[in-house]
Amino acid sequence: MKDLLDTDLLTKEEILLIIETALKLKKEGIKSLSLDGEIVSLLFFEPSTRTRNSFEIAAKKLGAIVVSMDTSGSSLVKGESALNTVRTLEAMGVNYFVIRHRDSGFPYPIAKKIQASVINAGDGTRGHPTQALLDALTMIEAKGDIFSKKVLIVGDILHSRVARSNIWLLKKLDADITLVGPPEFLPEEFKALDVNISYSLDEVISDADIVMGLRIQRERMEKMSISIEEYIKRYQINRERISKAKEDVIILHPGPVNVGIEMTEDILYSDRSLVERQVTNGVFIRMAILSLLKEMRTYGSNS
Ligand code: CP
Repeated sequence: MKDLLDTDLLTKEEILLIIETALKLKKEGIKSLSLDGEIVSLLFFEPSTRTRNSFEIAAKKLGAIVVSMDTSGSSLVKGESALNTVRTLEAMGVNYFVIRHRDSGFPYPIAKKIQASVINAGDGTRGHPTQALLDALTMIEAKGDIFSKKVLIVGDILHSRVARSNIWLLKKLDADITLVGPPEFLPEEFKALDVNISYSLDEVISDADIVMGLRIQRERMEKMSISIEEYIKRYQINRERISKAKEDVIILHPGPVNVGIEMTEDILYSDRSLVERQVTNGVFIRMAILSLLKEMRTYGSNS
């Protein structure tokens, strides 16, 4: 495996290897600067706080050189293509490209044309594999196992790359997934993913082991049919709803949270919420991915 493009392309064994490697790094600390001499390029064409900074921290902790290109101040604005930009950086010795872009599928053709590893840091509404991997690490740490756990993914499923990568990954780990949201965020096509669908959070919350809220992505839609007030009334993760859930339910959200809409502030910072632990785990998952990709490039793998 040269690249990490999405969770649908990973085997169950590869997913578990990444999670176990991250857990080991978290428990035992860094044993070697395994990326010493490697160069990691961060190419973010969309805003990011968590993904971009945690990749930079992860790469630097492992001893890599990190170059973060200001895409708006590069020769891209003179018309140079993304592929030529990446090839130019590869000619300077870059070994990894961490790419976020608003277009679904953006990193795939680039990965085919270069020797360096490409890591998808979010492509349009399609996927965000490193987020799904850190979510799974957080679930496994809290619950021991994901097998048969009832996971609710709540909110703007339609525009969420986090939801898609999580669905592919959680199905491989045999979780029991229910997508919850208003019909405009949960169209019929999602039934084909072989998951449960609910339009009522109140009907399904009592059985949940894990509740994952999603951000309403207004930048990816022209207008919302459901009003914010109605959304809050039917789908907000708040104290009243969580009081009807299991005592050991855990609450996740990839962030950034629209506080007071998807989730109330008291729930976000409650002892049921693992949102900050997700952020911490993001560094370890990205360290694991960077070091495993180097191992696979160096020693080879079947996939
Ligand atoms: N969860 C996530 O991708 O957050 P950022 O947009 O801040 O990277």
